[in-house]
Amino acid sequence: MVGDQEALRALLLYYDELPYDVAFVYVTGRHLASALSLIEAEDLPQPDILITDVGTAIYRDAQLAEDVEWKRQMQAGWQPKRIVEMASAFPALHRQSLPDNRRISFTFSPNDGAVHDFEEALAQARIPHKMIISSNRDVDVLPEKSGKGNALNYVIERYAPKDVQVLVAGDSGNDLDMLTLGYPAVIVGNAQPELTTIEPHPRLYHAQKNCAKGIHEAWLHFYGS
Ligand code: GLC
Repeated sequence: MVGDQEALRALLLYYDELPYDVAFVYVTGRHLASALSLIEAEDLPQPDILITDVGTAIYRDAQLAEDVEWKRQMQAGWQPKRIVEMASAFPALHRQSLPDNRRISFTFSPNDGAVHDFEEALAQARIPHKMIISSNRDVDVLPEKSGKGNALNYVIERYAPKDVQVLVAGDSGNDLDMLTLGYPAVIVGNAQPELTTIEPHPRLYHAQKNCAKGIHEAWLHFYGS
């Protein structure tokens, strides 16, 4: 959605003029305050649902009330303290400063093997988790049942009408699981290399264009004029 203001305005105008309602679900790696400041800075429409922290938190409606059922599912078996302890053995992983422990995220220096070794250590210690690597820079350790894909699936099943038509759009590694849920999806032209090599599929469209223009291109591809 962001990155090309003019294209974003054109896309929003296009959606406004459609004969049906378009709802916005933002699915971001950012934490809530960071997501809200981006929405404000880019003058994005208020989302109908906001999924933050790589799928570990879901907020809805104008009040942005947290979905407590999803929160409960995220907390089951989640062991942030142990994950932090284990990470301290890998100095190449730099912990991101985040407002809470719903995910444990790091940045890392590319290609030094630490991420792989850390993942192996977590697996050996049988600590339930999901690890997601994005942009050759970020590594997120998340509750096992989280991730953008699982969170989006939950939101669609719980809140969307049965005949909903969906377009999922993404540009980096943390988007992969939601792009491959089976809903019509677009990898925008300016995506990170970890997505550009994904095999196309009838429901996974590689847009030529960047940012909001790529979303618009995919909307026309899947849903016509
Ligand atoms: C966003 C978040 C960061 C996360 C990354 C990958 O950049 O701000 O915390 O690690 O996405 O999911």
